[in-house]
Amino acid sequence: MREVETGTAGITPSSVEAAARDLAQYLPPTPLQYSRAFTDKARCYVHIKIESIQPIRAFKVRGALTKVMRLHPEERLAGVITASAGNHGQGVAYAAAAFKIPATVYVPETANQLKVEAIRRLGAEVVPAGRNYNDAFLEAMRHVERGGATFVHAFDDPDVIAGQGSIAVELLRDLEDVDTVLVPIGGGGLIGGIALYLKEKRPRVKVVGAEPTGADGMRRSLEAGRITTLDRVDTIADGLAASAPGKLTFELAKRYVDEVVLRCSARSGCCSSGSTYSPSPPAPPLWLRSCTTTARVRTKRSSSCSPGPTSPTRS
Ligand SMILES: Cc1ncc(COP(=O)(O)O)c(C=O)c1O
Repeated sequence: MREVETGTAGITPSSVEAAARDLAQYLPPTPLQYSRAFTDKARCYVHIKIESIQPIRAFKVRGALTKVMRLHPEERLAGVITASAGNHGQGVAYAAAAFKIPATVYVPETANQLKVEAIRRLGAEVVPAGRNYNDAFLEAMRHVERGGATFVHAFDDPDVIAGQGSIAVELLRDLEDVDTVLVPIGGGGLIGGIALYLKEKRPRVKVVGAEPTGADGMRRSLEAGRITTLDRVDTIADGLAASAPGKLTFELAKRYVDEVVLRCSARSGCCSSGSTYSPSPPAPPLWLRSCTTTARVRTKRSSSCSPGPTSPTRS
């Protein structure tokens, strides 16, 4: 197999495949379900990867477990630290519990309390720190500097990205002839891993990112050609509320993502329609309102979508 030098900390398709293999000891593959409703709406065959049945109800457990599995045993014993407003914190807490190691999760005071409680229930120490993610992140970094535990970044880490990319390995197993994949973007770890794997394995598959208009750091960064940090983030989709992509995830998106579509999910009011970042002529826009799942879209004729089928092609 051809290994690429991605310029992104050596993340390769085989690293993603190894993550998929190793994760299978802990997490069964999630189903890829044909969606009649979205197929009718989008007029393309649409399948949805059901990540909401993961033990923490989100794909984030893939990246966190991969990171913890890949730590040197001695390093691992010292425990892990992260900063997260929710799903990643739960992923790290779950992985730490699986390996019986300590975990500390710094959370902004504004974090969703149900998610914070879930992190505690998984056995991690929760430290409220500051008003937003950046405050919590800085506090977590101060803890890391005091020595010992390993920081697990929510998206800008090669092992976390490889873990999230394991979704694409399962996808190609289940739906060999997929032609377009739609992936929500927060900091970009999920789309980074998926896009790298798919584009290296099936260069013709189109990878489309979806961001809320109030948290469109990746689209702005791609347009500007450099990482651009938003002054303000406004979205009800807390998993997508990142103010900027990471260094690795931006490089991966630049190299592998075909297009980013925007749709509104603002806390206050709503905009009329989305806009698109596209380095090439735009495809027909498509919006699947899922933040907890990654949607797979297969079109019968990819440039002009055909009407939906009368029966599922595969589930
Ligand atoms: C449910 C859900 N979907 C999508 C994302 C975005 O993932 P990433 O930050 O890797 O882009 C997150 C991030 O927390 C999430 O929790």
